[in-house]
Amino acid sequence: MEFHSNFSLKDYNTFGIDVKAKKFISITSMEQLREVLVSESDIFLLSGGSNMLLTKDIDKTVVHVNLKGITILEESENQVVIEVLAGEDWHQFVLWCVNHDFGGIENLSLIPGNVGTCPIQNIGAYGVEVKDVIESVDAMEISTGKIQTFSNSECEFGYRNSIFKNALKDQLVITKVRFKLTKGAHKPNTSYGAIESELLKHNIENPTIKDISNAVITIRQSKLPDPKEIGNSGSFFKNPVIGTTHFENLKEKYPNIPCYIIDDNSIKVPAGWLIETAGFKGKRFGDAGVHNRQALVLVNYGNASGQEIFELAKQIQSKIKIDFGVELEIEVNVC
Ligand code: EPU
Repeated sequence: MEFHSNFSLKDYNTFGIDVKAKKFISITSMEQLREVLVSESDIFLLSGGSNMLLTKDIDKTVVHVNLKGITILEESENQVVIEVLAGEDWHQFVLWCVNHDFGGIENLSLIPGNVGTCPIQNIGAYGVEVKDVIESVDAMEISTGKIQTFSNSECEFGYRNSIFKNALKDQLVITKVRFKLTKGAHKPNTSYGAIESELLKHNIENPTIKDISNAVITIRQSKLPDPKEIGNSGSFFKNPVIGTTHFENLKEKYPNIPCYIIDDNSIKVPAGWLIETAGFKGKRFGDAGVHNRQALVLVNYGNASGQEIFELAKQIQSKIKIDFGVELEIEVNVC
């Protein structure tokens, strides 16, 4: 096993922040992972680096989970169960499924990150969340090196949430995820407005999963920056949920405020709209900025430090609180 010291993490986080790890190792097998967990006392786990903002050097051993492999476990006429190791790139796995005509994750095309981190924040987009197709998750306990298996319900999934972010935070390394996908009898989900209009543009009435994947890729490329070109971490904030009375008050002042009704008492408001209305969309402060096509995304134009991006996030949070009385919660992990 090869450890590196004073190792730059610039290429290992999608914000492209140049901080250093005191010690770094990329592991490619379960045995290596277990060995590292036993030998290193203080570890920092790194997967695709797509949902984190690094604000300082890491004075720990950074363990890059680089486990690869895709295996079909069960296959019937209408269903397939696929086991995927944590280090596989999420979007490449989606494309693999689409090309094999395995359905269920086509709406989640082009989301940055790795398979092993998709359950942690229950990634979601265009009407689908990954919890809808996860059969089970395997994880190695950091303190013992033992593997535990979590059924879908044991993962305690919620909006951008799971047990891995809460009760079991920092206790496990996710090693494998099993997905139950459809074969032949797909259940396409085109209810999200932008997908339907994108398909209509191409006169597609009965879309294949490939058509849906292509539509999602086009939509995402039209408004979300590619991390390979401009550093970013997707949605930086969660969409806040507020009470109906609070919402009615805001609607009087802002009649066009968009919303998703959650239940009789609560309404979700798009953070992107709040940030744009507060005047931040497209604003740039040095190399830290708010994307000009989707205000929910903070960007690094080149050499911003994590601290600069974090300061911008705090400035946005306090303006949103003053203007709308809404607390914006950060979605990415600030480390
Ligand atoms: N909006 C604005 N200004 C903006 C951005 C959005 O006014 O700058 C308004 C839009 O006009 C629309 C509403 O906000 O009325 C919602 O916008 P959009 O459909 O783009 O989706 P979102 O709520 O901003 C969520 C997810 C995205 C996911 C999309 C599509 C969260 C925090 N974000 O964004 O997830 O791709 O829906 O399903 O739930 C991610 O997590 O990295 C991510 C990109």
